[in-house]
Amino acid sequence: MNWDDTTRGAPSAPGTPAASDTEDRLVGSLADGEDQAVEAALRPKDLDEFIGQEKVREQLDLVLRAARARGATADHVLLSGAPGLGKTTLSMIIAAEMAAPIRITSGPAIQHAGDLAAILSSLQEGEVLFLDEIHRMSRPAEEMLYMAMEDFRVDVIVGKGPGATAIPLDLPPFTLVGATTRAGLLPPPLRDRFGFTAHMEFYEPTELERVIRRSAHLLDVHIEAEGAAEIAGRSRGTPRIANRLLRRVRDYAQVKADGVITREVAAAALGVYEVDTRGLDRLDRAVLEALLKLFGGGPVGLSTLSVAVGEERETVEEVAEPFLVREGLLARTPRGRIATPAAWAHLGLTPPPAAGAGPGGSGQQHLFGT
Ligand SMILES: Nc1ncnc2c1ncn2[C@@H]1O[C@H](COP(=O)(O)OP(=O)(O)OP(=O)(O)O)[C@@H](O)[C@H]1O
Ligand SMILES: [Mg+2]
Repeated sequence: MNWDDTTRGAPSAPGTPAASDTEDRLVGSLADGEDQAVEAALRPKDLDEFIGQEKVREQLDLVLRAARARGATADHVLLSGAPGLGKTTLSMIIAAEMAAPIRITSGPAIQHAGDLAAILSSLQEGEVLFLDEIHRMSRPAEEMLYMAMEDFRVDVIVGKGPGATAIPLDLPPFTLVGATTRAGLLPPPLRDRFGFTAHMEFYEPTELERVIRRSAHLLDVHIEAEGAAEIAGRSRGTPRIANRLLRRVRDYAQVKADGVITREVAAAALGVYEVDTRGLDRLDRAVLEALLKLFGGGPVGLSTLSVAVGEERETVEEVAEPFLVREGLLARTPRGRIATPAAWAHLGLTPPPAAGAGPGGSGQQHLFGT
């Protein structure tokens, strides 16, 4: 008997776009159009206003203070962390704290070294260059960046072929702030050229509660402390999601209640949107329910599980599973997916007698789908 695993199994239809954390998901962590429109208004403007990330804030505060005291440009800073945790926000705060202008661009926008040369050569002294998605820059641009970061110099290539010449150009000192959701994809020479790397962590519910209360204040929404706590618990550790859920709850409060967000209003509103008490949405719950009810908690192969919930395997693997794994509800093992005791508890189900041995489910065999 063979359990299919993640490395084997039916390839998805060619041309199917890779499943992603799609915009239409209320608990998706990527910014959608509405997020982008309101995020600017909700962004903390300085380090004091920035909630949570105590370590990063303390370290960055030292880096910036010291640079200011020396009257120098701050060292290059790399911000790494999942979408929606505040990387763009922090880059703007760095510029604000240094009272420096900021230039914003992104890896995908820089396909040719020339694009980068044009930006670098027009920087003012002390300017902050924010390079979002820095892991997606092209190779030649990356190499130009090495020299610019280290020596504040670029070689501008003039002409083509054998007659091309490199004209060295001195740059004013600047601070590069790179942001990436995939620090592991950065080549070591690039990573090493940053003077300071900040790893952004997921936020604690109490921190998200503060984010929500602050945003509610800015949006002129009346929220009770318990209402904020209710939303915070469902926000997957991510300020962007917290702010988005707050806006949906506000709508509900306006239409169905007197505009005030209490615990009951928040819970009822998020019930309508199918975001449960741990922040799982319809898809997450469908995956867990199939795993528990159809396969007795596993182990079951990804392909089988995907067919059972009627989704592409990429969708299950890339959209639903990461959060379920992070929450300790599901584990990926060589024999297939298994549910943890917490998953049974979360769905209010009783594990079969043989189960309950804990994550890893050592020794137990559920012979489903053979
Ligand atoms: N520490 C924080 N305190 C208050 N609000 C925050 C904090 N971090 C993020 N936010 C809010 O969350 C939203 C998303 O943050 P931001 O755009 O900085 O995330 P990001 O890490 O750049 O995401 P992406 O990887 O998608 O670019 C912003 O509107 C911001 O107001
Ligand atoms: Mg960003």
